[in-house]
Amino acid sequence: MRVKNFAAVSSLIFFNICWASNKFVPPGPQINLGYISLVGNATSPTGEVNGPVQFFGSIPYAQSPLGPLRFKAPQPLNEVSPSQSSQVRVLDARNWGPPCIQQPALVGVGSEDCLLLNVWKPSGAKENDNLPVMVYIYGGGFVDGTPQAYPMYDWVAENQEIVAVSMGYRLNVFGFFKNSAMNSTDLNAGLLDQRAALEWVQRHISKFGGDPTKVTIVGESAGGASTVMQVVAYGGQKPVPFARAISESIGYGPMPTEEQSAAAFKLAASVAGCPTSDEEGLECLRQVSLGTLIAASNQVAPGQFSPIVSGPGTILPDSPTALIRAGKFALIDYIGGHCSNDGRTFTDGTPTTLLTQDQLIAAVLARWPSLTNETIDKILQLYPAPDVPGSPFDSEYDRTWVIEQDTEFGCMDWFLANRTAELAETATFTFRVFVIKVAYITLTLVSLLVEERTQGTASHRLTM
Ligand SMILES: *[C@@H]1O[C@H](CO)[C@@H](O)[C@H](O)[C@H]1NC(C)=O
Ligand SMILES: *[C@@H]1O[C@H](CO)[C@@H](O)[C@H](O)[C@H]1NC(C)=O
Ligand SMILES: *[C@@H]1O[C@H](CO)[C@@H](O)[C@H](O)[C@H]1NC(C)=O
Ligand SMILES: *[C@@H]1O[C@H](CO)[C@@H](O)[C@H](O)[C@H]1NC(C)=O
Repeated sequence: MRVKNFAAVSSLIFFNICWASNKFVPPGPQINLGYISLVGNATSPTGEVNGPVQFFGSIPYAQSPLGPLRFKAPQPLNEVSPSQSSQVRVLDARNWGPPCIQQPALVGVGSEDCLLLNVWKPSGAKENDNLPVMVYIYGGGFVDGTPQAYPMYDWVAENQEIVAVSMGYRLNVFGFFKNSAMNSTDLNAGLLDQRAALEWVQRHISKFGGDPTKVTIVGESAGGASTVMQVVAYGGQKPVPFARAISESIGYGPMPTEEQSAAAFKLAASVAGCPTSDEEGLECLRQVSLGTLIAASNQVAPGQFSPIVSGPGTILPDSPTALIRAGKFALIDYIGGHCSNDGRTFTDGTPTTLLTQDQLIAAVLARWPSLTNETIDKILQLYPAPDVPGSPFDSEYDRTWVIEQDTEFGCMDWFLANRTAELAETATFTFRVFVIKVAYITLTLVSLLVEERTQGTASHRLTM
């Protein structure tokens, strides 16, 4: 039983007693899913007691990924309803659950037991209202991010015609551990977590007034990359548990190479005091305390435990680019876009420090270490130096960040929209939020948005 893992166990007993004796009104809205009954929260974040939105948080969507389940694909819950309704377990769903362990990880912050999701519904929505559903996947480079940072209360309060969901998914070493002793079906556990949450939504969202056939996934940065990976999941061989996707500023970083994954494993194992052979190291890292694993993961640079090609029959049988090019992905309605200056976020240097082509190459290689000289030469040709007649770039810095922009943020949304529109009659849109360059301080501080809308037909383009 999972129940013992919940700090809320005493209040569960309390609810059971109240309901059994039928004397008290339960303290929040209640939804019975058959295998579990949820007590939610109708108090708004500003303290309005019976607000327009009901919240149900900390709902497990898979077994706790603890002990032998550490580094494994999420395992299904037992969702068999007990024979008597009085035996249905009551879950205190009035608040958030703990977020997943972050990087840098701090002992005592977050939890390994984080395969939890949250649902917001209009207070008046009831079963079979068939409202569209928005599911948010947080970003944070696959090393941090929490549902708490992206509350969806206002989405539902303002609209009243959607149900909103967000999920926690495992990050960094917890979600993307890899070594050669792993079963390939356990690789990319963090992406499998997202998928398991989406499958839970398919099974249960109608009870909240949502329509499982009208689910839209949405995410930004690594969350945007996640939306793409969910669209290409299993190379399009299995139906996806959603109908639409929105990707914002897809943070499409490099996947760790075999060598990087092996080095990350060996470093983590040795810091944790574990053997560095694959089989024994994996077993040992499964058994070390959370504190030990946290200390080890903090020694590994961010990005070394992140999504990888996991092989045939798995969630990522090939790189998303290759799958999209081959048409091996779900043909669904799609919106994808980015900001015009996203590329500056990860460009190492400033207009006063990044002055030469060698510095450009070093900056690009720092982000994409496996580029061959041949590819670099091709890039330099496609993005001509500022002194080449007709070059659109004012400086080497400009040239560098546009390269970063296109590789990291600017092309994947367009590419997926373009391929979708080529292959199917779905609704596809792309957009670019145009950010005027006012000054090169930290550009997030000084951005001005102008509106300049254009809209095409086949593949729609929107510039804001
Ligand atoms: C219900 O939600 C409100 C608003 O987020 C929060 O302040 C309150 O603590 C929650 N109630 C419980 C019992 O968790
Ligand atoms: C890998 O996992 C799959 C699915 O859980 C299972 O069917 C298979 O037997 C496992 N393979 C090995 C070598 O353990
Ligand atoms: C790639 O180019 C760099 C810089 O010109 C050079 O030092 C290096 O040897 C080249 N690598 C290969 C494999 O040719
Ligand atoms: C996709 O991109 C190609 C290459 O730029 C272009 O020729 C084609 O018209 C695009 N297709 C759609 C549907 O936009």
